[in-house]
Amino acid sequence: METKKRVITEEEREAQRVFARQVAERIAGKEQKACVVTYGCQQNEADSERLAGELVAMGYTMVSSEKEADVILVNTCAVREHAELRALSITGGYKHLKEKNPDLIIGICGCMVSQVVRSETIKHSYPYVDFVFGTEHLWRLPEMLYAAMVGGRGFYPNVGEAVVCEGVPVHRESSFRAWVSIMYGCNNFCTYCIVPYVRGRERSRRPEDILSEVNELVRDGYREITLLGQNVNSYGKEFGDECDFADLLDRICAIPGDFIVRFMTSHPKDASRKLIDTMARNPKVAKHFHLPLQSGSDRLLGEMNRHYDTDTYRELVSYMREKMPDISLTTDIIIGFPGETEEDFADTLSMLSEMKYDMLFSFLYSKREGTPAARMENQIPESVKAERMTRLLALQEKIAEEKSKKEVGKVLRVLCEGESKNNPSKLTGRTEGNKIVLFDGDIARKGTFVKVKITEGAAFALYGEIVD
Ligand code: 5AD
Ligand code: SF4
Repeated sequence: METKKRVITEEEREAQRVFARQVAERIAGKEQKACVVTYGCQQNEADSERLAGELVAMGYTMVSSEKEADVILVNTCAVREHAELRALSITGGYKHLKEKNPDLIIGICGCMVSQVVRSETIKHSYPYVDFVFGTEHLWRLPEMLYAAMVGGRGFYPNVGEAVVCEGVPVHRESSFRAWVSIMYGCNNFCTYCIVPYVRGRERSRRPEDILSEVNELVRDGYREITLLGQNVNSYGKEFGDECDFADLLDRICAIPGDFIVRFMTSHPKDASRKLIDTMARNPKVAKHFHLPLQSGSDRLLGEMNRHYDTDTYRELVSYMREKMPDISLTTDIIIGFPGETEEDFADTLSMLSEMKYDMLFSFLYSKREGTPAARMENQIPESVKAERMTRLLALQEKIAEEKSKKEVGKVLRVLCEGESKNNPSKLTGRTEGNKIVLFDGDIARKGTFVKVKITEGAAFALYGEIVD
């Protein structure tokens, strides 16, 4: 579907505020609760914080359990089949909640239901779902919720608009780490990926809107700002030479305050030397680069439509390490892309050994209907994918452990996130390189930067002690 950029006007936003007031009037004095359930990537988490922001503005109290809620929104993911099946199965469970409370309102949104086939499934097989909306309609929540309260079921499929909407209220999960979407959509059409079909064409927010959001966050005491986009390196293309991603980073770093900036995701074909130079000279930019490789086989990179080969990837990483020797490098790998031979997979393993990633996210290839790779021959059996995954993880574990051991003795700046879930007697936090660190200390440190001397390095975490 061709999509066209559309910036939501002030009149349209005002119309939503009118719907929001109508919802607020209907629930006034009733202590209504709402729950947003999120699957998938950080972009979805950021979207969910906007949905929650709108709900709070209408007078709802946010709760984390669906059982207590009067409104449930499920923000779905479509990137792999597993995420879709989980969202469908959890939605299936809401049937009982609706039977107990017929006034419960259930809405499903996000990438999964932005595919016609999935929204049709909900329409026909999940009659207790009140409304379904594609990614383009997120800003219309007050209108859709109001319609669900007074009317019948509502279906709002994407129509091909690449929407940008400013001014939606945000209800953030954390008081010290914040997501800031700088652009939406993707134009790359990697042959395995559903994202360009469900999130539309690339479009950027205006730099002034982003800067004012970050300014406000820093003023409110946020310590870590993560800039989000499917491919942040093509930020600002529609503004000509006015402000590219490196310029935006520079302008964000010029905001006074004690904070760090992260960003994701970068496409290796677009990550520029200028961006690397900008990172290197700005102490506020976390020295971490997430650079999805996907495969170490040049043949498969071609089949994936990635527009780079392993040599250009190597050169980029060498430049990065020359400018920032301690930079942490992470990646995404897909295992079992159609036609992946033992030799292709061996190339991926050898890139892992060569690049020595600090961390990697590995995914079994999942066939997405409507993408070119779904029609390719030689789909790889699940058993072969699983066996390759085991080998890949074993190799990466060794590499990560070696890299972690090299951190021992260093004093690193860590943003303390509070008690560790797995080990509540310890505090946890992340280094600039995005590595998890466990250490002893007072919970009052939560949300602040602490200096931690690393005493032990394991594959998935570092251990240390506060030295400041
Ligand atoms: N199957 C498996 N992994 C996928 N990804 C995207 N599409 C698929 C798919 N069909 C992975 C890529 C991407 C990450 C966010 O998800 O590695 O970088
Ligand atoms: Fe998907 Fe490729 Fe776009 Fe990333 S760059 S969202 S993998 S199409």
